[in-house]
Amino acid sequence: MTRVLIGDLKDHIGKEVQIKGWVDVRRDQGKMVFFDFRDMTGYVQGVVLPNQAEAIEIAKEVRTEWVVGVVGMVNKRPERNIQADKQNGDIELEVTGISVLNKAVTPNIDVTTDGKEIGEEARLTYRYLDLRRPRLQKNIRMRHKVTKLIRDLLDKEHFIEIETPILTKSTPEGARDYVVPSRLYPGTFYALPQSPQQYKQLLMASGMERYFQIARCMRDEDTRGDRQPEFTQVDMEMSFVTQEDVMDLNEKLLIEIVRTLYPEKKIQEIPFPRISYKDAMEKYGNDRPDIRTDKNDPNLLAFCWVIDFPFFERTDTSDNPDTLGEWTFTHNPFSAPQPADYEKLMEKNAIGSILAAQYDITLNGFEIGGGSIRNHNPEALRKVFEIIGHTPENIDKNFGHMLHALGSGTPPHGGIAWGFDRLLMLLQGEPNIREVIAFPKTGEGKDLMMESPSEISAKQLKELNIQIKK
Ligand code: AMO
Repeated sequence: MTRVLIGDLKDHIGKEVQIKGWVDVRRDQGKMVFFDFRDMTGYVQGVVLPNQAEAIEIAKEVRTEWVVGVVGMVNKRPERNIQADKQNGDIELEVTGISVLNKAVTPNIDVTTDGKEIGEEARLTYRYLDLRRPRLQKNIRMRHKVTKLIRDLLDKEHFIEIETPILTKSTPEGARDYVVPSRLYPGTFYALPQSPQQYKQLLMASGMERYFQIARCMRDEDTRGDRQPEFTQVDMEMSFVTQEDVMDLNEKLLIEIVRTLYPEKKIQEIPFPRISYKDAMEKYGNDRPDIRTDKNDPNLLAFCWVIDFPFFERTDTSDNPDTLGEWTFTHNPFSAPQPADYEKLMEKNAIGSILAAQYDITLNGFEIGGGSIRNHNPEALRKVFEIIGHTPENIDKNFGHMLHALGSGTPPHGGIAWGFDRLLMLLQGEPNIREVIAFPKTGEGKDLMMESPSEISAKQLKELNIQIKK
């Protein structure tokens, strides 16, 4: 007998079917045994009646979280037993046969609740169980739907999805790099990407014109509720565009996601309001203003663009490990200055007053993305690196490929990257991004399930020419 999905049972009333899934709840009432069965499409109640001697025997043995195949009749429930607010609340499976596909030890954590009562250590240690709970099933499934909508819409807009390397080179993005030792070249290291920034710009040099990627990014920084060492960006880059073009497209995409997949939510203001960095700092004291008019409404989405960022700021050596000189960039060294400030950059004049063609997008007080129009003039980019304290040799060594590409017929271009986990956290009404990531790290950067990070064998260390200092 072929398997019928629990979510489709309503189309099989009066028929005998087979379902496969998990025992969510078992209620042994002596003569009869009641069940809630669960599969990826939902829940259904089953009952084993006293006349099913063989099935009753198995029903008495199975426990919650066992994996079963169940054969039974799909019956309409009598009027008085209908639970209108529940999926399949008007039907019931009259079980005639149960086969055990796999047993389960008593679950280490309860997977039938929303999990908020369980300590996070236990949840992350048994993440494969934790993910069974309805709340997390929903989060991960909605994540897929949002991803798919993005892919489909960007495809229609002539974007192509391109994968960029994970083993790459240390880059100046502001955070600390994760590094990977090279076996073939002892003493040298790859770096994991903090973002695909340089690659996506190089793809513009390659004539791809419109790139996107659901990109994994790694940053060795302190973890907190909206920060993970490893996170996902919806990353894009476009050729021949202005700041308005990038902002318009992204607004369209965000509105489409909300209208299609979150119809219960309301966007506070369309087009999304814009505020300058200066005004945001003066009015809200930060550059990710929460502009909601009603902070008690869980369905209110207040998107806001923050623009007119200063390009450079005075160096604070305490939180920028790559600091070289007295100035550093606030966002991205590859940004263009605003057209009105172009001369100031070329003359390295009034550096602190140069504004970047940078735009951040915020949602309910969280920065959910940022991007810029890039500097496609190699001479102007060289000025940026000079201002942040690189020597000419250093610039050629580290950014020679970028400068050469820009000088080899690169179109004007710009882009943006969303913090996808943060966006999903807010859309799903979750308090932190761990709830929307299948296998997140703890606040201390650990994977408790895999017990990572971990030591490696002496043989591996030897191959890598690495000695651990005792
Ligand atoms: P940026 O560094 O602003 O820009 O990153 C883009 C967005 O990614 C999210 N984000 C994070 N989310 C979870 N955990 C983290 N550790 C984390 N760090 C950042 C934020 C942020 O807005 N290459 C540029 C983009 C561009 O200019 O196109 C970049 O990476 O929501």
